Amino acid sequence: MEQISIIDAKDYVGQTVKIGAWVANKRSSGKISFLQLRDGTAYFQAVVVKSEVPEEVFQLAKELTQETSIWVVGEIREDTRSKFGYELGVKEIEVVGESHDYPITPKEHGVDFLMDHRHLWLRSSQQHALMLIRNEVIRATYEFLNAQGFVKMDPPILTGSAPEGTTDLFETNYFDQTAYLSQSGQLYLEAAAMAFSKVFSFGPTFRAEKSKTRRHLIEFWMIELEMAFMHQEDSLEIQEQYVAYLVQSVLDNCDYALDVLGRDKEILKKYTKLPYPRISYDDAVELLIKNGFDDITWGDDFGSPHETFIANSYDQPVFILNYPKAIKPFYMKPHPTRDDVVICADLIAPEGYGEIIGGSERATDYDYLVEQIRAAGQDEKDYEWYLDLSRYGAVPHAGFGLGLERTITFIAGIDHVREAIPFPRLLNRIYP
Ligand code: 4AD
Ligand code: MG
Repeated sequence: MEQISIIDAKDYVGQTVKIGAWVANKRSSGKISFLQLRDGTAYFQAVVVKSEVPEEVFQLAKELTQETSIWVVGEIREDTRSKFGYELGVKEIEVVGESHDYPITPKEHGVDFLMDHRHLWLRSSQQHALMLIRNEVIRATYEFLNAQGFVKMDPPILTGSAPEGTTDLFETNYFDQTAYLSQSGQLYLEAAAMAFSKVFSFGPTFRAEKSKTRRHLIEFWMIELEMAFMHQEDSLEIQEQYVAYLVQSVLDNCDYALDVLGRDKEILKKYTKLPYPRISYDDAVELLIKNGFDDITWGDDFGSPHETFIANSYDQPVFILNYPKAIKPFYMKPHPTRDDVVICADLIAPEGYGEIIGGSERATDYDYLVEQIRAAGQDEKDYEWYLDLSRYGAVPHAGFGLGLERTITFIAGIDHVREAIPFPRLLNRIYP
């Protein structure tokens, strides 16, 4: 008899198979028990009929408690009433591991309780669906970048630089020196782009931000791209193609997970249409003021109500171009004819999901970079290696970083970024 995974049930209709699974839930009456089973690949229903199995099997099924692990033998049948489409007609059950008083019951629990039990919460159907979407976004990322000839370059996690500014750094001892956990691999990727042309990184990123919003993690994963001999306009095209590719891949390969989460696929389909609209920072400020926002003036960074309003006016992800120099990092290329803005863009997702990409063309002039590093309150001596890029064959180059969890939150249509990562690190949480 073959041992199969639930996800492959469709290939075994009419056959008797063996499955290792956990009992996620159970309903019993005098003559029939319905076991909701999960094996990590999917969920489906197993039906135990009193008149079709030995008495002890029926008794055992009735006594199974939530999250007991079992071997179960039965016949795969079509089940047109369920979303999954198949069920198991049970013949035999063997208990593998008992489970008593499982903390997460089918009733409602508060988020703090669920977060304290994140190691178990991952087993529930919504969290399971979300992690499958995360996996698909990761898979599609590699597929997209490999097809486009990008070379993966892993920047260090322990660094001496602070490309995004010094306010949110995690400091640690590096023997007799101070090191920081990486807040972006970008500067290293710029060096790598001069050696390999088109490069990317995909790794953990650390920001000691005292932000407790639904968009902020302390530890998140970022995909960063860097491209030599490339200007900002070409980078924007790659950004929108990449995001549309991710959305399309999830539509193609995560149909069931999207159903479990109740995500409207017609809305997602809109986000595969290119190009995404572009609006300048200047026009965005004007748009907000015209629409009654009196808490914003030119020079301010946008807050989430502002971003939400701007993106919702387009019903699509939207690029906001060329922010004030004063609120952006030192490495961004200055505008050719204005000294108050830099050549950059943030991609803002609609439906209130906010910024999912930050990127720019990079400054290449040595003197300008030194001046900007100083203006950022840092010491150019720490950036000697980086400044070498402007000394030896500097070329126009551009790049960006996409936040993995924010992108998942947006594609999956969930409320909070904490559910888009297996074990979130939040302002007040490092457990479990
Ligand atoms: O806009 P950020 O800070 O850009 C950079 O780090 C650049 N060095 C990227 C580059 O050009 N190579 O971060 C990029 C993205 C944001 O748009 C957002 O999606 C995500 O990273 N991000 C966060 N995600 C979760 N929690 C946080 N605290 C985040 N901070 C940024
Ligand atoms: Mg940003």
